[in-house]
Amino acid sequence: MNKKTILSGMRPTGALHLGNYFGALENWVRLQDEYNCYFFVADWHALTTGYEDTSEIKNNIDDLVIDWLSAGLDPQKCTMFLQSSIKQHAELHLLFSMITPLSWLQRCPTYKDQLAQLKDRDITTYGFLGYPCLMASDILIYKADFVPVGEDQLPHLELAREIARRFNFLYGSVFPEPQPLLTEAKVLPGTDGRKMSKSYGNTIALSDSPEEIQKKVMTMVTDPERIRKTDPGHPEVCSVYKYHKIFSSEEICSIEEECRGGKIGCVQCKKKLAGKMAEYFEPIYERRQNLLKTPGIVREIINDGNKKAMEKAESTMQEIRDAMKINW
Ligand code: TRP
Ligand code: SF4
Repeated sequence: MNKKTILSGMRPTGALHLGNYFGALENWVRLQDEYNCYFFVADWHALTTGYEDTSEIKNNIDDLVIDWLSAGLDPQKCTMFLQSSIKQHAELHLLFSMITPLSWLQRCPTYKDQLAQLKDRDITTYGFLGYPCLMASDILIYKADFVPVGEDQLPHLELAREIARRFNFLYGSVFPEPQPLLTEAKVLPGTDGRKMSKSYGNTIALSDSPEEIQKKVMTMVTDPERIRKTDPGHPEVCSVYKYHKIFSSEEICSIEEECRGGKIGCVQCKKKLAGKMAEYFEPIYERRQNLLKTPGIVREIINDGNKKAMEKAESTMQEIRDAMKINW
């Protein structure tokens, strides 16, 4: 009964790819068996960098939750909810904004990076600067003990801890300090060998059919020094090999040996990989097909999750209002 609480969120920015799956979602599916888990769709966060065009957000929320469910998140085991349905996050964000020094936000490394990188958008906004403050509210309102995140989110989590400490110091101890739960990184390159990213157009989506996966695998870059099958290969520079490490781990030694010895051609090696991937993703693909036959399922599950999340969020908010004496 005394399970620790885990919370994490994803922005609804379109179909998840295998980088997202192995970077986060696969881990979430495992965690739901051991922890009291809250997983939420961070639609307000999506606005911090994408406030101009909001036309896709609703569809993206649906797609994201379908991705979650098909990957195996189970509403019987974890609470899935939508950030913007729980208005308490906004209230806490406002209160935190009162006690968070500007300098903490300005020196956040992701803030400076993004300002420099997203040159095509105007993100010199109040909301974008306050992003970590909103994220701290998401986390602390559920009194999360652990937050599974990638390395890129660590500075935000550090800020959440600082905000928790400051609040506790000023008004009395309400929040535990959330700890990061770093996922051992299983890194899959994109089909062109670069980092898998939507902006490079080199992704394999979790929703791709076995046929689409096979097609993409066949275009993947391999060892450029291999022209003929008999040329000795260098698996360490080959993207296909990196995939085999995950999907064909039991045969990885023989694949390496056959590649180095010029005993297997790249086409054959890719076909083998596509077969393994089809096998791995079959249950996920099947679940997706069933979910798509049940319209309204996302709404039902999220409405349910919202109720549970709201209960916890409101109960923490009452403590917070009492501690701050903003409880008329
Ligand atoms: N900032 C996270 C991202 O962009 C999403 C997010 C928002 C989040 N609130 C969170 C993650 C709270 C963990 C906990 O990926
Ligand atoms: Fe890569 Fe396989 Fe070709 Fe070797 S045989 S270079 S591992 S695709």
